[in-house]
Amino acid sequence: MTDHGDDQVMVTLRVNGCDHEVVADVCATLLDVLRDGLSLTGTKKGCDMGACGACTVLIDGRRIKSCLALAVMQDDKDILTIEGLASGEEPHALQRAFVEHDALQCGYCTPGQIMSAVGLMQEGRATSGASIREFMSGNLCRCGAHPHIVAAIAQVAGIVP
Ligand code: FES
Ligand code: FES
Repeated sequence: MTDHGDDQVMVTLRVNGCDHEVVADVCATLLDVLRDGLSLTGTKKGCDMGACGACTVLIDGRRIKSCLALAVMQDDKDILTIEGLASGEEPHALQRAFVEHDALQCGYCTPGQIMSAVGLMQEGRATSGASIREFMSGNLCRCGAHPHIVAAIAQVAGIVP
């Protein structure tokens, strides 16, 4: 991290496996730097106060609400966003399942839902419908697609919700 004066610093963000050097305000959130600095607009801004989960990304494998994370604190961390989830042209199993289960309507919450679901599965918490509902409760869907979202996650986890 390099001081550029006027509360601006150069920070190196490793996003989806690639290092990006960006000049950011010391107070800038990771969400704003991803969207405005790196044009990675798949990560959505909903409430901008930690309440909706639309901005969920993984940092070092842990799901984080990027509107609550300072960009300057993410030096040397691995950040995974929705843009880095597919393997080339092959969508992630959760992306396919969301489509198969019609787990979206407007789609605004969907990147955050999917990134949170990836984290949930890595945490080993997709063990029942109740557990999925509990540990996905930080991700809101104003279109009411929650039952379909749970079904999609359950399918990938190989359980009956
Ligand atoms: S935009 Fe981050 S939790 Fe709503
Ligand atoms: S699909 Fe519209 S908010 Fe979730």
